[in-house]
Amino acid sequence: MTEKSPKLRAALDDVPTYKPGKPAAAGGPLAFKLSSNENPYPPLAGVLESVANAAASFNRYPDLACTGLMAELASRFDVPLDHLATGTGSVGVAQQLVQSTAGPGDEVIYAWRSFEAYPIITQIAGATSVRVPLTDTEEHDLDAMADAITDRTRLIFVCNPNNPTSTVVRRAELERFLDRVPSDVLVVLDEAYIEFIRDDRVPNGIELYRDRPHVCVLRTFSKAYGLAGLRVGFAIAHEPVAAALRKTAVPFGVSQLAQDAAVASLRSEDALRERVEALVAERTRVREALIGQGWTVPDSQANFVWLRLGERTADFAAACETAGVVVRPFPGEGMRATIGEQEANDIFLKVAERFRKEL
Ligand SMILES: Cc1ncc(COP(=O)(O)O)c(C=O)c1O
Repeated sequence: MTEKSPKLRAALDDVPTYKPGKPAAAGGPLAFKLSSNENPYPPLAGVLESVANAAASFNRYPDLACTGLMAELASRFDVPLDHLATGTGSVGVAQQLVQSTAGPGDEVIYAWRSFEAYPIITQIAGATSVRVPLTDTEEHDLDAMADAITDRTRLIFVCNPNNPTSTVVRRAELERFLDRVPSDVLVVLDEAYIEFIRDDRVPNGIELYRDRPHVCVLRTFSKAYGLAGLRVGFAIAHEPVAAALRKTAVPFGVSQLAQDAAVASLRSEDALRERVEALVAERTRVREALIGQGWTVPDSQANFVWLRLGERTADFAAACETAGVVVRPFPGEGMRATIGEQEANDIFLKVAERFRKEL
């Protein structure tokens, strides 16, 4: 008798697996990880201390309602408490957003290429992805995205700045787009990298959400705040969207370590801002060096740079790895390199220079 396997949902059949940034090789003379858009700085002493204190009671469940963190966020961003929801990283909140809005037969629109979790979480919900190609300048094509809306559209992601191309959507074009989106379609402004933006034509999503109930702002503590390993992100949205997010959250998903570290980080913003400034300065240095070498590099407003290398992507990534830095290749398209330690960035630039000369 042949045993039958458990019945799994057909929607899972072709779900692409999330590819994490490759770790740096262990044991090599030099090995820097520039593949996951992490913050290269170690935790601040005060933040580390808050985590150590919280660790003393991890035999207990965390505060389910994230009370302290929610209060801190409400005052920091001047939003009502019931407009906030937290989750296990902003990718967790993004999944809650899709689960709250879309199921079989529904459509989720996003630019492509963009954050690779969007297709995964859409498909897991049983909904259909509608990918709208980026423009030739690696930017969101908001007119085409608005044209792609149908009566099945439930959610639209706008990744600002866009991962992996580092480009931004500016205020006027975003407002025009939001005005075109029907009020019963949720627009999620994914602002995972907002702290790295220095172009003042780019809006802060919180300004846009205030008088637009169909706009939700997604933020994370993983990038500028340096808490990637602790998994905490949040959304700001009007009711009933925020209430739906609280319903779809995994109970106790955000650990007490993460909650306390996030509060400590919000209270250490000056020190964190200095680090972000240093990374922005490094970003400028890296981009200018690449342009000096002859590369076309989008104006990055994030903590990474993008090179469209096409068929040469895999070779370029392999050359980086041999030299001691791991970048993030998207085979056949291009590669994304996170701005890391100066030494790592220098190694990356040397590989890029050599590669450019060979083209
Ligand atoms: C655009 C974007 N959104 C969300 C995330 C998720 O980050 P986290 O789940 O660590 O908050 C990432 C991470 O790379 C990202 O690039």
